[in-house]
Amino acid sequence: MALLEVQNLKVYFPITGGILGRRIGDVQSVDDVSFTIEAGETVGLVGESGSGKSTIGKAILGLVPMTAGTIIFNGKDITRSIKRNRSSYRRGVQMIFQDVYSSINPKERVLDIIAEPLRNFENLTKAEERKRVDELLSIVGMTSDTALKYPHQFSGGQRQRIGIARAIALKPKLIVADEPVSALDLSVQAQVLNYIQDIQDELNLAYLFISHDLGVVRHMCQKLMIMHRGRFVETGSRETIYDETLPHHIYTRRLLSSIPDLNPENRLKNEEKRNKVTEDYNQQLSKFYAPDNSVYPLKPQGNDHYVAFPD
Ligand SMILES: Nc1ncnc2c1ncn2[C@@H]1O[C@H](COP(=O)(O)OP(=O)(O)O)[C@@H](O)[C@H]1O
Ligand SMILES: [Mg+2]
Repeated sequence: MALLEVQNLKVYFPITGGILGRRIGDVQSVDDVSFTIEAGETVGLVGESGSGKSTIGKAILGLVPMTAGTIIFNGKDITRSIKRNRSSYRRGVQMIFQDVYSSINPKERVLDIIAEPLRNFENLTKAEERKRVDELLSIVGMTSDTALKYPHQFSGGQRQRIGIARAIALKPKLIVADEPVSALDLSVQAQVLNYIQDIQDELNLAYLFISHDLGVVRHMCQKLMIMHRGRFVETGSRETIYDETLPHHIYTRRLLSSIPDLNPENRLKNEEKRNKVTEDYNQQLSKFYAPDNSVYPLKPQGNDHYVAFPD
């Protein structure tokens, strides 16, 4: 049994117009996607900005209303109760954001930020709470005096580690990590990714790891879902997705070709390859997308590999 099963999820936002603000259409941010996440597994959700990744993450957390679909957690259909406070679902699923500031009150001390989920779900004494916060800080490599400071006193990487400490305070089963390192310098990215991986083993955590960069998720994800225009254009194991000899959607090929190569000797060759793929992309666009520009349904390629090839 999968830890999380998302079936036929749709999230549409209304477009209103005219002086009466009538609904004149929808933004189909997520348009019928299905997937599962197993306990302890990392699933990568990758696509360019605007493809609908964050909306999937937010729908799982109950932060945006679902237009259609079903969410099953630990075998239980929680679609209707997703917003119920203090449920085991709300406890078991947490989120890490690209920008910690978007989910906290910057005027609060780190102690209050990390302790907030504990206060919602557990009745700890002040001493017990402080002890738990210190433990959580030490897991992400920060000292106890961090607790009495404010978020602005820390670097981006340190703030992200504080966000991780808060996300794991209730020992969740699944964390939706939405571009958790995208705003950080390359050198700091690796460090934060290491913390994210270390805690995974200790807590048997599953991740839905969202990124716009196939390079960042390469070493973390067992499974990948490539998203464009609200749908999956391709899904498969890491071995499948990064194997350039296999057939891929043109969109996946473009994402693969834009992974930066840190070896300067390859730079010229890579640039040529990238230009070639971009040229192919522009030429073949109409072949890979339906006449209304939508993504075709996924088609099985064997080995749990699915690609939205034309009908
Ligand atoms: N609350 C909202 N109201 C209207 N449109 C939205 C809302 N949230 C997201 N969208 C639209 O949905 C699409 C997908 O957005 P998002 O999920 O944030 O993409 P990503 O995370 O891949 O960059 C975009 O076109 C975005 O403008
Ligand atoms: Mg996003």
